[in-house]
Amino acid sequence: MSAAAYSPDLSVVTTLAPKARPGFVQTRSVEAITSRALSYLRAGFSIHFRGPAGTGKTTLALHAAALLNRPTVMITGDEDMMTSTLVGTQHGYNYRKVVDRFIHTVTKLEESADKCWADHRLTTACREGYTLIYDEFTRSRPEANNVLLSVLEEGLLVLPAQNQDEPYIKVHPNFRVIFTSNPQEYAGVHEAQDALGDRIITIDVGHADSDLEVSVAAARSGLSPAAVAPIVALVREFRETGEYDQTPTLRTTIMICRMMAQEGFQPSVDDPHFVQLCLDILGSKSTFTGKMDNKRAQQRKMLLSLLEHHCPSMAAATASEELATQADRNA
Ligand SMILES: Nc1ncnc2c1ncn2[C@@H]1O[C@H](COP(=O)(O)OP(=O)(O)OP(=O)(O)O)[C@@H](O)[C@H]1O
Ligand SMILES: [Mg+2]
Repeated sequence: MSAAAYSPDLSVVTTLAPKARPGFVQTRSVEAITSRALSYLRAGFSIHFRGPAGTGKTTLALHAAALLNRPTVMITGDEDMMTSTLVGTQHGYNYRKVVDRFIHTVTKLEESADKCWADHRLTTACREGYTLIYDEFTRSRPEANNVLLSVLEEGLLVLPAQNQDEPYIKVHPNFRVIFTSNPQEYAGVHEAQDALGDRIITIDVGHADSDLEVSVAAARSGLSPAAVAPIVALVREFRETGEYDQTPTLRTTIMICRMMAQEGFQPSVDDPHFVQLCLDILGSKSTFTGKMDNKRAQQRKMLLSLLEHHCPSMAAATASEELATQADRNA
């Protein structure tokens, strides 16, 4: 999916061209979820990818939109979102002046000023039958999203009274919305409205399986699957401990792998730069105040022991490989 730049002119809505993202990884689990999503979209429903941070919801939404092959507009929910941000608003005046000198002796002057209306992204998408990706829609207040109820049920977008010429528009049959939301974690997230949830099909997205994480981390860093596998295992085990304030996600794994690729770090406790990188990235998932030095030290110890386990010292790794080979020979 390639994006054109955002235009500050309110009357211009910039669309995204539906194109597969470079580095998009297709595994069986991704294929299965995409094919469910597409069948719902093709049947005329709007859909909702719901799940914790970093599970690939936005990536899936962009991919599903690319497969629908319609121009796509994207908005991200936030606390300040208002219905007018979605729909459109009055935007200045059209000023008109006519001087009529048809009869030489008489000058007729006519002046008028009409209010101008500028469509915003939802209105443009409804008119033209575009795909709308509404990322993190539960960050917007439910009142702002109410306008979507009649769009999804009756196929009518009701425009505000300011737009006197056109009280509503009929929604184009190709219009679809792909919502994403993260119901956990963030402060400032509103409960998804029941009325809206009732009109869309929700697909729960969980953390990727290990194979998908290895494929994505390799594709995004340029390292081999074998090189990224220990990092994937390290971050997954750290995630299972629950000893953090912010969940370590696939994004965390990608960060470590990209830094390793750029700096040429070895995934081993022998490489102090690599160890520091992991402590920086994984250690920052917990917040400690000044009085919690003890807890900070405990967490550092736990991270170092996870590192020793998944990214052992080269000498130890070679010795254990030799032992395994010897055991195979003896067997
Ligand atoms: N199938 C995939 N192929 C390639 N990269 C992927 C894939 N799935 C996820 N990723 C990568 O994993 C990271 C997290 O994905 P994404 O941003 O879609 O998650 P999210 O669920 O939307 O997270 P958040 O809730 O924080 O917005 C991104 O860097 C994304 O590029
Ligand atoms: Mg996202």
